[in-house]
Amino acid sequence: MAPRLILTGFMATGKSAVAAIVARRLGWPLIDTDQRLVARAGKPVAAIFSEDGEPHFRRLEREVISEIACDRCRCALCKRQRPAVVSTGGGALVDEANYRALSATGVIICLSARPEVIARRVEKSRTERPKLLEGAKPLSERIEELLAERRGAYARADVTVDTSDITVEEVAERVLAAFVRLGARRCARSA
Ligand code: S3P
Repeated sequence: MAPRLILTGFMATGKSAVAAIVARRLGWPLIDTDQRLVARAGKPVAAIFSEDGEPHFRRLEREVISEIACDRCRCALCKRQRPAVVSTGGGALVDEANYRALSATGVIICLSARPEVIARRVEKSRTERPKLLEGAKPLSERIEELLAERRGAYARADVTVDTSDITVEEVAERVLAAFVRLGARRCARSA
């Protein structure tokens, strides 16, 4: 099995915080796809959206994700992919090529939260989140709308962990347990 733990899910579901805990616990490197593409573009996500447009952002996102899944990430000796925890942006899984690349490289774990919890968490950072500014709609309406659009994409994850009412440490525990359970099943299938 490709030993990657991939965290995805809507904005403000705790992906980055949980990924950091899980990577530390496993002793694996952490790859944050947004951080990589921001470094490559030399500007923050909001500036990429406003200056270059969403299609350019999605192109960079696809590029970064396909590199993560590529053969160069394999160990020169055993040819297996090096283990890593990968944290993606909230829209990454919507793209079919991203989904295929990610599912081939590891176990996809989606973090979720109720819309009102997401609204509370993003209230102060809405301006840094271009997808929530689209249409100049009330925050809760925009969140519900985007969640509805993406429901099918998130449902393709191997497992979903609801983060609404638990701490990041508890989320990390559940993520690790799911990873071990699903990873072991995949290992058995590919043995
Ligand atoms: C996006 C989520 C953001 C970032 C970009 C687009 C989305 O990442 O990739 O603003 O489409 O949901 P986070 O989910 O880490 O906020």
